[in-house]
Amino acid sequence: MKEQLEAIQQEALEKINTVDNLKELQEIRVAYLGKKGSLTSVLRGMGQLSKEERPIVGEMANRIREAITASLDEKKEALEKEALEKQLEAEAIDITLPGRPTNVGGPHLLTKIVEEIEDLFIGMGYEVREGPEVETDYFNFEALNLPKDHPARDMQDSFYITNELLLRTHTSPVQARTMRKYGGNQPVKMICPGKVYRRDTDDATHSHQFTQIEGLYVDKHVRMSDLKGTLDRFAKKMFGEERKIRLRPSFFPFTEPSVEMDISCKVCHGDGCSVCKQTGWIEILGAGMVHPNVLEMAGYDSNEYTGFAFGMGPERIAMLKYGINDIRHFYTNDRRFLKQYHQA
Ligand code: DAH
Repeated sequence: MKEQLEAIQQEALEKINTVDNLKELQEIRVAYLGKKGSLTSVLRGMGQLSKEERPIVGEMANRIREAITASLDEKKEALEKEALEKQLEAEAIDITLPGRPTNVGGPHLLTKIVEEIEDLFIGMGYEVREGPEVETDYFNFEALNLPKDHPARDMQDSFYITNELLLRTHTSPVQARTMRKYGGNQPVKMICPGKVYRRDTDDATHSHQFTQIEGLYVDKHVRMSDLKGTLDRFAKKMFGEERKIRLRPSFFPFTEPSVEMDISCKVCHGDGCSVCKQTGWIEILGAGMVHPNVLEMAGYDSNEYTGFAFGMGPERIAMLKYGINDIRHFYTNDRRFLKQYHQA
């Protein structure tokens, strides 16, 4: 019996040694240690042994069972490790392969300019307001001192929807709307960015749709020098501290007096060159002191309240700031143009 046991141990250990997969290893476990396994059946025959022999053979059988079990466990662990390694190798990602380039987006240049201007005025205490793009004739013109048949309406060719509704030609109606909201007895300090529409033929400097930013400050004792100081701060922040501004007399029906603001040319600093058409100055925006009629129509007593207003085109500002020579670049959305300004 002892020989039988030893033979079983040797055979089992040899088999375990040579097996190379988990399935066969499990079969070996069943074949030797299972209920019908060879070691088990040998042990069943123990009853026939003498009293003296039984403990010796029993002890030996236990040792052999432990040896086979240990060997099986060890092999199992080794095979599992090997399988895991194989799997990891098969699923490995080659991190040395070059990646696929992705297109990274960013805010549009116009959005960035508008936000920059907003930030600047928010810093001076202005609130940002919005108004409708489909506007009434009243707010787009009449409330701004442009009654029906006023010749200055021709300055802004309009897209009418009905007799009383049109696509707004400027952001100035938001002045009138905001003043009305404040009810004639509170100061107003607002800017309004937004789209505007005009019946223009598109070319390098004209577009039937573009952007404006309107500004309005109404309070007791607002003076022309406040307007000048505000515009000077804006121009220097936007274009550089070395730039100068000048105000030229102009005409807008909603302001009196009205001005246009120029900044000194960045190329020649005022001496005259081809960029500024030899004038030394570049036109930036329109502005003025709010016309008493506009204040009165919005419910403000023009003897008590005064104000200034200004209107500018962010496309023009961006064109001057970055040397862009065609307004159509803002709308044709050529990525080669747009992506130059993602970091700007
Ligand atoms: N609304 C004018 C335009 O579209 C721009 C403008 C000029 C706005 C003077 C103003 C202003 O508020 O005071 O051409």
